[in-house]
Amino acid sequence: MPINESLYLIGFMGAGKTSVGRALALKTGNPVMDLDDRVEEEANMSIRDIFEQYGESYFRELESKILRDSIHKKAIITTGGGVVLNRENREFLQKTKRVIFLKCDPEVTFSRIGDDPLRPLIKNKTAKEIGEMYKERLPYYMECAALSIDTTHLSIDEIAKEIQKEMNL
Ligand code: S3P
Repeated sequence: MPINESLYLIGFMGAGKTSVGRALALKTGNPVMDLDDRVEEEANMSIRDIFEQYGESYFRELESKILRDSIHKKAIITTGGGVVLNRENREFLQKTKRVIFLKCDPEVTFSRIGDDPLRPLIKNKTAKEIGEMYKERLPYYMECAALSIDTTHLSIDEIAKEIQKEMNL
């Protein structure tokens, strides 16, 4: 069913947001938009280069701007794992009421993302450090979400089906 307002997928790195967003878009015939892709388009460089050349705060500014621009979009919107760090972003997301948190055990997350060089925030981090980062962010994800799905033992297809069912898509 076509959606008539934005639907946001949030969650920690490696939770499957981008893949689930794509699968859900295919199943429901809705467009999908990835905030990280939009940030890269806007800056005309990769996220890794943005972090390296301008630092995290510049990336966060762009990310927040792109998030706000998405308000009138009728699409499945996949977000970067740190979008919830900013209080105003959390308020913005909460107001939409269509926020789905893809939850995933940090150990599984670590095995999925390892030390992916394209994810600057986990470069050279141990599993323990990533676990701590996850713990710090968990309350923020919970605060924003209208629906939480534990994706730890689910396939991309199963997660997409669950969202379809819960959101009547
Ligand atoms: C980040 C997650 C990344 C990307 C950036 C920062 C984070 O997106 O936005 O590297 O702070 O968790 P994914 O969650 O899609 O990996």
